[in-house]
Amino acid sequence: MAAKIIDGKSFAEGLRARIAGHVDRLKAEHGITPGLAVVIVGHDPASQVYVANKAKQTAEVGMASFKHELPADTSEAELLALVARLNADPKVHGILVQLPVPEQIDPVKVIEAIDPAKDVDCFTPANVGKVQIGLPGPVSCTPLGCLMLLRDQLGSLAGLNAVIIGRSNLVGKPMMQLLLRENCTVTVAHSRTRNLPEIVRQADIVVAAVGRPEMVRGDWIKPGATVIDVGINRIDAPEKGPGKTRLVGDVSYGEAADVAGAITPVPGGVGPMTIACLLANTVTTASLIHGLVPPSDLTA
Ligand code: GUN
Repeated sequence: MAAKIIDGKSFAEGLRARIAGHVDRLKAEHGITPGLAVVIVGHDPASQVYVANKAKQTAEVGMASFKHELPADTSEAELLALVARLNADPKVHGILVQLPVPEQIDPVKVIEAIDPAKDVDCFTPANVGKVQIGLPGPVSCTPLGCLMLLRDQLGSLAGLNAVIIGRSNLVGKPMMQLLLRENCTVTVAHSRTRNLPEIVRQADIVVAAVGRPEMVRGDWIKPGATVIDVGINRIDAPEKGPGKTRLVGDVSYGEAADVAGAITPVPGGVGPMTIACLLANTVTTASLIHGLVPPSDLTA
């Protein structure tokens, strides 16, 4: 059986079009232009690419984009002072400080300094708690993107067995909360899990977020399961020539695609959804800040 390929790139395009529609309505009906501030400290090339993409897509959906590029030797106090200014700025509805930050800065202090009302990463303890008890607010971007793809693929998720591989604060734990809210039976596996292949074989839904290239093998997958691969790993690709590399996920794609019912590719699966969900969260926070009900199609 050849799995259906879940096209995250085209889903994200559709999501951005819906976001642009909501931005137009906020402007026309309420005089609100949602604004997203992105802060980057230092010159990490990968971070610079992410941040440039975020700023470009923010502008494309009609939002205000505020980019703050700080030198690598910025002190923690200077960064906290910028976060305080952004917290107080009424044109800013979302604040994202690109991680990692240089070692002189404590990322936990920075995250805790962000006003939860503007925390579009959903990193602050207040927003993590809101997701847990189902209150409206921003939702972690990558798990939200995975959930949207799963709902689109499967409709109701109620009663399905979901196995998440990886227990990070960024993906595994919030994914667990979202799938529980969908009435899945959720197992969170991790590096100490015994009999991982056996556990994964029970899953109707597999979310792989371990950061180990091609770890999940085809014979771990239950026939017909839906496989969401969050991993983005760069590996050597000598077949493409000396020194060449390629991107692979946490799932051995070729093997799994023979068994699964549907699967996300890497690249082009979950990746494009993450930035689109950041924009969705900015519409959510802008709505809530102004006392409006956030659009239900942009959240969990
Ligand atoms: N660095 C890599 N991914 C992310 C993300 O989703 N949010 C932030 N703030 N930093 C990141």
